[in-house]
Amino acid sequence: MKKSWKAAALVFATVMLTACGSKADTNQTNDTAVSAQPQQTEESATTDKTSEADVQEAVPETGGTLTFGTNAEFPPFEYVASSGVIDQYDGIDMAIAKNIAEQNGMTAAVENMEFDSLLVALQNGQIDAAIAGMTVTEERKEKADFSIPYYTATQVMIVKEDSDIASASDMADKKICVIQGYTGEICVKDLGYPYEAFKKGTDAIMELVNGKCDVVVIDSATAQKYVFDNDGLKIVEDASAFASEEYAIAVKKGNTELLDKINKTVEAMLADGTVAELGAQYIEAISAE
Ligand code: ARG
Repeated sequence: MKKSWKAAALVFATVMLTACGSKADTNQTNDTAVSAQPQQTEESATTDKTSEADVQEAVPETGGTLTFGTNAEFPPFEYVASSGVIDQYDGIDMAIAKNIAEQNGMTAAVENMEFDSLLVALQNGQIDAAIAGMTVTEERKEKADFSIPYYTATQVMIVKEDSDIASASDMADKKICVIQGYTGEICVKDLGYPYEAFKKGTDAIMELVNGKCDVVVIDSATAQKYVFDNDGLKIVEDASAFASEEYAIAVKKGNTELLDKINKTVEAMLADGTVAELGAQYIEAISAE
């Protein structure tokens, strides 16, 4: 069966920091690199007074290693490949991470871990930054500081092609699968529906393919990859139930020195079209597999 893999559209979106809910900009359901002039969030412009003192080594020295934490289970943003841009790790985020390190005179390294462990690893100093298609939420902003956003996405529903699910409320009496700790889980919880949480997107998709669940709620670009890889699935969007989300890079709270460097590079990569190009390139690469 022929599948189409939609190219990322370059559309500006007004985005809320809620992971989901009915505040969505209803005209905006396509994935997109964010506008070339991203707004600085109030929080990232403000210095965090509480934790600045505990930052030992805010930025690795020139020639040093900048360690990014990720969860390489989220194509096209991060996945394991035979040869990636940073070791075996490939994807849009990995290319952005490499660029950030290089532009700042460092070498990028990746620590692959569970998605739920990333913010703890930042707090422990095990990693310098987390880049993982991570949506900025109010709750996460209490645990880490976020860069300017680089990508806009939304939650979507993946269902069997013959499914009668046409909107989020149609999930009410269905078996719903989500990925543990992802914003998709938060959205389904907020909608008040029972669900089963899986460790990996591919595990949830297997349940769907095997008819053991009716719908998987996950981020749009990753959903497109799964639908491309598995026959008999389709994507259902519902912009009134799922708001736009913004992906950003997280650093330890108070590490403004590293955050400033990351923001400068991300801003330049958005302005010169690098992020949009990477998006298009990785989406094309996946659909050509
Ligand atoms: N955007 C979603 C979130 O922030 C899912 C991110 C999953 N990323 C990953 N690398 N596994 O919760």
